[in-house]
Amino acid sequence: MKIGVISDLHIDRYNSETLKQKDFSLTLANEVSREALDILLIAGDISNDHVRSYRFMQELEQMTGVTIYFVPGNHDFWNFSGDAKSTREIYEFFKETKYFKEGSPIDLGNGWALVMNPAWYDYTYASDRFSLERLSEREYYGGTWQDKVKINWGMTDPEVSREMAERAEADLEAVRDKKIILMTHVATHKAFRVPMPNRLFDYYNAFIGTSDFDRFYEEYDIRYSIMGHIHFRHQVEENGTDYICACLGYKREWRTKDIVHEMRDALQVIEI
Ligand SMILES: [Fe+2]
Repeated sequence: MKIGVISDLHIDRYNSETLKQKDFSLTLANEVSREALDILLIAGDISNDHVRSYRFMQELEQMTGVTIYFVPGNHDFWNFSGDAKSTREIYEFFKETKYFKEGSPIDLGNGWALVMNPAWYDYTYASDRFSLERLSEREYYGGTWQDKVKINWGMTDPEVSREMAERAEADLEAVRDKKIILMTHVATHKAFRVPMPNRLFDYYNAFIGTSDFDRFYEEYDIRYSIMGHIHFRHQVEENGTDYICACLGYKREWRTKDIVHEMRDALQVIEI
């Protein structure tokens, strides 16, 4: 079985530029077909609008016939759709789709299972020179971490992280006898934070990842840990787990200006 992995497509970022949403769906559809993928995993941040993110998956599925699984990223919760959905309602919206099966891990056959959970940042990836209070201000060097104004969980980020981790644990427990692919949006390994000391990221690393998943790697047979969010394309192997970040990222972060080249470079393929 061939499984493709990609994240952080941000298809709605380029309205006034030469890059159109159609370029993303067509290019990705071509890659899915070229690689003859059975399953495509999208680790969040398709767009800033849950309806658009959902329709993108529908369109891609119709074009290719590939089975898609997804976890919402922070941007997918931003709600640029114009409807009045709260963050929690968007979460429920995604859970009702066939793409985000949190609470019902997927049996992939051959002793493999897929667990999906967005995970949330808990501030533990920041430099310890900042207090929890200072980090929870989510403002630094004149910049504001935009989730602060665009997302409202009704609780603190560390609390959201713990809540997500509890749900992930229940799903992992349900497939504890299987080889597991875990897909999150935020990072679950500190190898994926921006190297410190760093003028900005000593602070902003707070919003990159979580430590609440650490113990799961000892407890469960997680062979692949898929994530997005950080806009690096990076892979780390540790104690039998492959940690994969396959972000497409923003055009300004690309090495070339060619979406085909970048999509091909970002997309990782695993075979089980
Ligand atoms: Fe993100």
